[in-house]
Amino acid sequence: MKNAALLGTGSCLPKRVLANSDLERRVDTSDEWITSRTGIRTRHIAGQGEQNFQLASRAAQKALAMAGIRAADLDLVLVATITPHMIMPSCACFVQAEIGAHRAFAYDLNAACSGFLFGLDMANRYIATQPEMKILLIGSETLSARVDWEDRNTCILFGDGAGAVVLTGEENRGVIASSLYSDGRLWQLLYMDSPKSHNPELENSERKGCYIQMTGRDVFRFAVRSMEDAVRNLLEETGIAIDQISLVIPHQANIRILNKLAERLSIPQDRLFVNVDKYGNTSAASIPIALDEVNRSGMLSSGDTVLFCSFGGGFTWGALLMQW
Ligand code: ACO
Repeated sequence: MKNAALLGTGSCLPKRVLANSDLERRVDTSDEWITSRTGIRTRHIAGQGEQNFQLASRAAQKALAMAGIRAADLDLVLVATITPHMIMPSCACFVQAEIGAHRAFAYDLNAACSGFLFGLDMANRYIATQPEMKILLIGSETLSARVDWEDRNTCILFGDGAGAVVLTGEENRGVIASSLYSDGRLWQLLYMDSPKSHNPELENSERKGCYIQMTGRDVFRFAVRSMEDAVRNLLEETGIAIDQISLVIPHQANIRILNKLAERLSIPQDRLFVNVDKYGNTSAASIPIALDEVNRSGMLSSGDTVLFCSFGGGFTWGALLMQW
């Protein structure tokens, strides 16, 4: 059986870099507080000509160039995002038009920070029945448009960017297995309502609802516990031991979440990929941006086993194994 395997990766970060020192001038915070509590030092913020679909399209073009595939040969364009610049049409349809993927069908998926992992799982399921498919999967966000820049609890955490992969069916590499989960009962711990909401649950707090709202401590605890469970379940199901994993590429939310996870799962620091210091939390874009960095740095070899894990609003969470 063929699995969804990587043919190419790409990423695109907005030009403007916002440092912690810049945030010190906006809200009552400090570089020391942000760095010690989150590990974040800088994040990229989208400006003119850097709408979500534009960042996504640039990342896609780099992935296509690496794969040696023309946009016109793609069968599917899938974009994981929670910040499309329009609700309809989808970001994926804008990307399809922008890059000229005219043969492909295109749609968005929303699983918050877990969107890219859920997308990889979905791509793998398409490939199981149509292994010749060429799939462009993108995680892309412009969260800066959905952050309350006066709220120090949230504005320090997030950044913008896009990462993309081109996938097709291959025999001895690609997605091995995944375990995905959701729990909608806890939605109020992390959410972002639509502008001009008519949601009766949020009556009288419309302004608040337009921005990312988060109960940080609970999210922190749940993120560590649920990613740990997802990874343990997946390793048990597949019979793969943690010391057989060459590299863990987790969703980049907060260095303390990642360090706790690594401690509980006995993942050595040199096998845990971290770039949250440079980009902050880019939600669905964080794993594909990391994956592109890993791929281009050549740090993995054929046959290596890579573990991905993520956690995000919904709640949604999961883990996925890939053979390099
Ligand atoms: N600068 C200075 N002080 C701050 C800031 C800030 N930016 N933000 C909060 N504080 C203050 C609080 O007001 C509080 O002050 P008080 O004690 O006088 O009330 C104090 O710092 C401690 O606040 P806590 O919220 O308890 O701080 P904590 O150590 O929990 O860190 C943080 C907060 C970084 C948000 C942490 O809870 C966290 O990382 N949670 C996970 C959230 C996350 O990653 N969300 C992303 C979306 S989900 C995902 O991608 C996994």
